This record gives sequence, structure tokens and C-alpha cells, in this order.
Amino acid sequence: MSHLRQSDPQVAELIQQESRRQASVLRLIPSENYASPAVMEATGSVLTNKYSEGYPFRRYYQGQEFIDLIEDIALKRARELFGAEHANVQPYSGSPANMAVYLGLLKPHDRVLGMDLAAGGHLTHGAKVSFSGKFYEVRQYGLSRSTGLVDYEAARAMAREFQPKLIFTGASSYPRTIDFSIFRQIADEVGAYLVADISHISGLCISGDHPHPLPHADVVTTTTHKLLRGPRGGMILCRGELAPKIDKAVFPGLQGGPHNHVTAAIAVALGEAARPDFTEYCHQVVRNAQALAQGLTDQGCQLVTGGTDNHLVLIDATPLGHTGKSLAVALERAGIVANANKIPFDPRPAEEPSGVRLGTPALTTRGMREAQMAQVAAFIGQVARDAGNATVLETVRGQVAELCAGFPAPGVAV
Ligand SMILES: Cc1ncc(COP(=O)(O)O)c(C=O)c1O
Repeated sequence: MSHLRQSDPQVAELIQQESRRQASVLRLIPSENYASPAVMEATGSVLTNKYSEGYPFRRYYQGQEFIDLIEDIALKRARELFGAEHANVQPYSGSPANMAVYLGLLKPHDRVLGMDLAAGGHLTHGAKVSFSGKFYEVRQYGLSRSTGLVDYEAARAMAREFQPKLIFTGASSYPRTIDFSIFRQIADEVGAYLVADISHISGLCISGDHPHPLPHADVVTTTTHKLLRGPRGGMILCRGELAPKIDKAVFPGLQGGPHNHVTAAIAVALGEAARPDFTEYCHQVVRNAQALAQGLTDQGCQLVTGGTDNHLVLIDATPLGHTGKSLAVALERAGIVANANKIPFDPRPAEEPSGVRLGTPALTTRGMREAQMAQVAAFIGQVARDAGNATVLETVRGQVAELCAGFPAPGVAV
């Protein structure tokens, strides 16, 4: 960062401090990861200087001979990796990708069925505070109170009664497998489009650790960061016949010029995700989440659904005498970074929810395995018991730093 240090020492110093933070803490937020140095190089490249409205070989600006080839590589890799007929890699992030699906397939005020935010769905799946809840007529399905699993039969009954034109499946905070085939049946019964948002689990769908949304879903959306380990971006995959609607919705419907530096980094990340070591990485993410779940249970933590099938674990912090927020704050003091989160049927408000959400993608990228997950669970148990004791938190912080030093974070210069 020599140029940056010279031109803007203040920002350079803060980036340096963030690098140190990312290297020295346990990053357990399930949507975060460490992108590879190759992905970072593409993201920081000269491609940021170029405008390219349109799609490969159909642009509104000249000078696209290399940009076209780069976006074409990203599209081909996306189609091959996910077995999709069509791909669009231009959405600026996950939320704009979902927004493009609404814009492409629906008219304002059409009916949408999506998973409730409080049950683990995403804002863009119809939450009242989001564009999706404001511009469309939405009903929300949730979880079974007895099992904590998606209540497919309630969703089916709701769909029959409400007759949505589009159904969203996928989640931000759901530790179990989603059955896309049941949602396909429900969508067929009412003649709705089925959209699977696999932002959190896209890697697991590639590696086979989670069932694939295709051919069940008409459209699949995903972020390209998170488990996929690319740059921050979004991607849409769909059946060939929907391609014109989706492409037109992204550009010119929602966006102008694509972020070419991100497109190149997406191509690089998809290339990395096609390699056998990425499949092994995803298997390890799940094994680590299960080891973390077991370790936390051994520490006396109560987990939503009792465990996990994927990359994340949701703790109910209240039996430990905490709120999700108070536990997340104490954990951060000890160098363990997670996020407070609602748990199913949470009586507490979103700003002060009952749960803490933990995921293993970033720690697994550092090379940590089951033995380290047991250590991490022990740290969390200790913090939960002694959150008010500054000396204990400081001691755990030291142990965390020691553990992190043994597992350098790829692409993070300190
Ligand atoms: C399921 C799901 N969809 C969409 C998004 C939105 O992605 P972004 O934050 O990139 O807009 C997220 C982000 O957390 C998510 O979890």
C-alpha cells in the first residue's frame, strides 16, 4: 500500500489496523470469509477504470475487447459450476440481485411469498422495511414451533390461499437443510416462479454438502462473497427462457455500468471454486460447524434445532443469562467476533435479540479443523460464564491471538 500510505496516510493506517484485526481475531460471522490473494488482486485492478454498459459483445461504449472476454469467462464458469442455462454476474451485490428478480418477473404489487426475517429469511424476501415488502404484496412463512425447521405444510397452505406469483426460498440464518423440491411442488400447485437465494450456502450446493437448487428453482440468486470466497458481488442463474427478463432487469432496469474489477474477481473465484480443494474446503466447513456445535453443547449452550447441517450455528444466549447482544459484545472483548441474531419465535426485539449466530467459513479458510473448533467452543463457554470478569476476557483474548497466529489468514498482510 505504498501509494496509499503516501497519498492518504489516515485511510492507509485504518486499513492496516483492519488487516491486523482480521488476522488476530476469530471471525465467526457466517457471511464473512477471506478472499484469496488472487481475488484481491483482480478486485484492485485497472478494470475499475472502465465503463461497460451492456453485456459481452453488446456494449454501449467502445474499448471492450478485454472486458468482454473477462465477463464471458465469468459467465461460462458460473454456468458450468452451477449447471445453469444462463448466468448474470453484474448485480452489485446480493440485494440488488434479488431486486432484479422482482423487477424482471413481477409487476409492482404482485404477490410474493417469502421466509420471515424473524425465522431466518433475508430482508429482500419480503420484509416490511425493505423495497420487497413495500412494493409487493407479501405473505411470510416461517418455522415449526416444535422442530424449528421450515414449516413446509404451513407454507403450502399459505400459498394455496394467497396464490403468489413468486415464492422465495433460502435464508440468512437457518442451520438446517432446505428442501427445494418441496418448494417446487408448492410453486407448481399455484403456478408461481420459484426463486432460491443460496447466498449463504452456494459453496455447499457446489460441493454436494447441501442439495442443489437446480433444476427445482426457476431462478437462483447468490452473493459472490460469503462461502463462495469471491469479491463482494451478486449473481443470478436461471433457465434460458427467463434470461432476457433477468438481463433487462439488471441492466438497464436497475444498474448502469457493471463493476468490471469485481466481474474479473468473480471469474477468479469461480475458477477457484471449480477446483477439488474448494470441494474439500466446503466439506470441512460443515465438519467444523458440527464440531463447533458439539463443543458448544458440551459447554452447556442451547442451540436452535440442537445442531447444524450447514456452515452456521445459532445459540440461544438467554439460558446462559445473556441477551444475544450482551454475549456478542463480551465475545468481541475476548477477540471472538460473531453477531447477535434473532432466534425462532424470539420474544426479544431485533436490536437486543436472544441469539448469537456463528459460522465456520472464515476459520476453515485459515486451515482450522475440528480440534480448533473444540478450543473455540471452550473459549465461548468461558466468556459466557465470566462475561463480567475483565481479567478472564483478557486471558481468552491472548489465547485467541495465539491460536490465530498458528493459522495465518490468506491475503491478509500484517
Ligand atoms: C440470503 C441472503 N440473501 C441476500 C443477501 C444480501 O446480500 P448483500 O448484503 O450483498 O446485499 C444476504 C446477505 O446477508 C443473504 O444472507
